Amino acid sequence: MLTIFSCRKDPVIEDYIDDLEEDIIEVPSEPVLPDEPYDYEARIFPSYFLADPLLNLINTLNDGNQVTNEGATLGRVLFYDKNLSINNTISCASCHHQARGFTDPQHFSEGFEGGLSERNSMAIVNVNFERRFFWDTRASSIEQQVLMPIEHPVEMGMNLEHLVERIQEIAYYKPLIIEAFGDSLVTINRLARALGQFLKSIRSYESKYDQGMANDFADFNSTELAGKDLFMSGVHSCINCHTTVNFGGVSSHINGLDAVSADPGVGAITGDEEDYGKFKTVTLRNIELTSPYMHDGRFATLDDVLNFYSTEIQPHPFLDDRLAIDFHIGGPPKDLNLTTEQKAQYIAFLKTLTDWNLIVNPIYSNPFPE
Ligand code: HEC
Ligand code: HEC
Repeated sequence: MLTIFSCRKDPVIEDYIDDLEEDIIEVPSEPVLPDEPYDYEARIFPSYFLADPLLNLINTLNDGNQVTNEGATLGRVLFYDKNLSINNTISCASCHHQARGFTDPQHFSEGFEGGLSERNSMAIVNVNFERRFFWDTRASSIEQQVLMPIEHPVEMGMNLEHLVERIQEIAYYKPLIIEAFGDSLVTINRLARALGQFLKSIRSYESKYDQGMANDFADFNSTELAGKDLFMSGVHSCINCHTTVNFGGVSSHINGLDAVSADPGVGAITGDEEDYGKFKTVTLRNIELTSPYMHDGRFATLDDVLNFYSTEIQPHPFLDDRLAIDFHIGGPPKDLNLTTEQKAQYIAFLKTLTDWNLIVNPIYSNPFPE
């Protein structure tokens, strides 16, 4: 079921919109699209994704909003369209760059008026196999998630009712909406579905690791193989939190970044004491491209991340039991004390998760001429 959002006509917001529209800086150009839509439907996950019991349990490949070529095409245009922000300055892609695995190299991302996001931008990949969205897991479906940045007061500052009116006025949307939904009616629900389809079409399964799944890792060098064995063995619990062939995105944990969490994370959503400082255990696919790392972008390099797990895990009243010496929640932190060689092996393995095809695939690229 898709959540339908009610829109308010708030006089204060209306005035605010009028003020901002006077400052429109540039009017974006028209998108350039192929005559036949790109074949998003042909992006089919290899069978081992569907054989993974956990992924099979949560996959949304057959939910009420399956990817169609026409829907994803509309979603792609929306994703790259600065008209989705109140003053036409910011698109989703401003903070989710294809070349960076759909993240932002900035520590925090700049919104429509130059304000900064409170957290580091997140990768968008293989969302079909994720249960909840955002670092604090506050969105429970991708169709619900996609509207939140549009309305966010720092990110895009747009009122959804106003967005519908604006999209109705933009000529290039009419044929795209007819293709995707059969008639030209613009609704929030349709915009959410189209954006959702585009996001669901961003599927990463062509990394060196995936080639390895097909040829028994014949092309892995000895460092990569050693890193894979370390990761998969669970000796340092990486695979127990960054689970499945998607290497995360399924659950959230407290991994001991801070003794006292400045950002409550999941705790602010659930109100449960044990969730304060808990964050989504994100996928490690394309991790080489998605620095800086963690919810607040505190680590610039994978070296920094491995050093953290090696010797810097902080005590926390609800530290995950996998990272506690006594295997009890909140127990004393178990520094992994990785050797220089092990860190290099981990990093070599993590780099096999980079999907170089994904980041140049034109079906996910910006349709607007720069
Ligand atoms: C100003 C920067 C900015 C813009 C614009 C923006 N995002 Fe984001 N995005 C972020 C940040 C920061 C987060 C993490 C926020 C949090 O967890 O509180 C995020 C998180 C997400 C996630 C969650 C991923 C996950 O694994 O849970 C998705 C999906 C996403 N954005 C899609 C979009 C879409 C679609 C748009 C356009 C409608 C958009 N974003 C616009 C910065 C931005
Ligand atoms: C107890 C569960 C847990 C274990 C064990 C664990 N992680 Fe994590 N990992 C997390 C969580 C949660 C985050 C996000 C934390 C945050 O941002 O607050 C994270 C973040 C990361 C990130 C940064 C992701 C990004 O996009 O910013 C990397 C890289 C990473 N972990 C690698 C590893 C490696 C390698 C291991 C094994 C040595 C490991 N993790 C073990 C839970 C875990």
